[in-house]
Amino acid sequence: MDHSSEASSHAGQSPLSGDESSKLTDLPQWRALEAHYQAIKGLTLRGLFDSDPGRAARFTARGAGLFFDYSKNRITPETMRLLLDLARVRGVEKRRDAMFRGERINDTEGRPALHVALRAKKGHKIEVDGRDVVSSVHEVLERMAAFADRVRSGTWTGFTGKRIRTVINIGIGGSYLGPEMAYQALRSFADPLLSVRFIANVDGEEFRAATDGLDPAETLFIICSKTFTTQETMVNARTARQWCVGALGSDAVASHFVAVSTNGAEVARFGIDPDHMFVFWDWVGGRYSLGSAVGLSTMIAIGSEHFSEMLAGFRAMDEHFCQAPPESNMPMLMGLLTVWYNNFFRAETQAILPYSKALARLPAYLEQLQMESNGKHVTLAGRPVTYQTGPIIWGEPGVDAQHSFYQLFHQGTKLVPCDLIGFCRSDAKLPVHHDLLMVNLFAQAEALAFGQSAATLAEEGVPPVQIPFRVCDGNRPSNVILGERLTPCSLGALIALYEHSVFTQGVVWGIDSFDQWGVELGKVLARRISAEIQDADTVVSHDSSTQALIAQYRLWRSPKGEA
Ligand code: F6P
Repeated sequence: MDHSSEASSHAGQSPLSGDESSKLTDLPQWRALEAHYQAIKGLTLRGLFDSDPGRAARFTARGAGLFFDYSKNRITPETMRLLLDLARVRGVEKRRDAMFRGERINDTEGRPALHVALRAKKGHKIEVDGRDVVSSVHEVLERMAAFADRVRSGTWTGFTGKRIRTVINIGIGGSYLGPEMAYQALRSFADPLLSVRFIANVDGEEFRAATDGLDPAETLFIICSKTFTTQETMVNARTARQWCVGALGSDAVASHFVAVSTNGAEVARFGIDPDHMFVFWDWVGGRYSLGSAVGLSTMIAIGSEHFSEMLAGFRAMDEHFCQAPPESNMPMLMGLLTVWYNNFFRAETQAILPYSKALARLPAYLEQLQMESNGKHVTLAGRPVTYQTGPIIWGEPGVDAQHSFYQLFHQGTKLVPCDLIGFCRSDAKLPVHHDLLMVNLFAQAEALAFGQSAATLAEEGVPPVQIPFRVCDGNRPSNVILGERLTPCSLGALIALYEHSVFTQGVVWGIDSFDQWGVELGKVLARRISAEIQDADTVVSHDSSTQALIAQYRLWRSPKGEA
């Protein structure tokens, strides 16, 4: 495929094609940012706030029910003007519109990236190869809703007629992280009589723990895999079938297994009735698939109406991304700030810190979303990038993390831009707890920005000998994202905010944010070594280290220490 012509056609006048894409750093807009960085890198957040009483109002944006405060970033109005210039010249808006039209912006796989179609309103039209995809999306959503309603109401029963009490989603990566994150986030909306568990890791301990104490007659498995060939998922799926068949007989499979996939042939080969399969499409990337049938376990847990509300939240942020002017467009601003720290301050990482225990799995979800999307080393033209692409994303719920790694944020030598995420109302009905939680969010954002000076410490009577150790320099940047309450709708908006921020970054860097060729190599090598592990007579030929590791494994894997 001629990627350069594809890229140029999508990006209109933006210089994303051919040789030009590797020249990001030669653009006048990039150079202007470099010069600007040199000029302002010494400014402090303390000084910036002191000199501009309107700073908080200037650097906040709202959309889709979320409030985005980015005033505690090391930026001036000029920084934002230059970053927005860069976005314009790189064609962020044009490529966004191309994505929403269903153009094949996933260049290297020759596909559209149409997760936005998953939450488009019924009746809206987006065509791929001349066929409307939104109507197919709604057909599947209706089938999912009918099935979820049957499981929730007990009219779908297990083989022996017992009601389903546990749903186990078997899937990995994008076929797991979204559903697990959403289930935890929305537990207060879930049916308490129906629990959802997840098996992603092929470690047998995970299977054992997930099925521990369960009655197979009351357990429904969702085998969730876009390809239906992922080794870990298929091994777990076969073990689940044995577990079920061992207890209930082979006729029970039809009542206890459904599939979510794009691969009907493999689903049928596994033995799942096509009537019990929920499709999605190759234009939905795994890490963007929560709004598709991949979210079936979430829908069973929270019900189809709440699931629709989550899609409405996604849609509200999609609309904001399409309609808000760049100066107040939250995903664009957020994506550009990531570029600012990544490429000019050369920050290597970015921390995600939800002040909400229900969002405990959000960092893991965003690790995949951002790093699988933007961990790329070539441009759309297939040329090596000459600049840094996606940062390392990591995090933990705030408060817990305050008592572990925040020390490095406050006094370490590394710059870690932080996203602090919180909600103003809690469903826990323990307001004292919630106030303290949010107090910590505000205090941390303040401490990161303004620190604690030697003069203040001296005024407080701290012994001089201790002062150097207690000084916190501040000037640590953070975004604060606030929602009113964690609901299906606000969760959808929050996820879409990050999706479109990732998109904005990818367009600036001129990379394909929708492929993931890098993970393929490990899969291929794992298949090869799988065969070698099984049979001691198989000749193993790898590098000396891998060879020695396999030999040691063979030696220790049998109880008698025999190879
Ligand atoms: O981890 C790599 C990956 O390809 C992800 O992109 C994907 O979400 C995951 O594997 C699972 O793939 P599948 O849904 O096809 O089993």
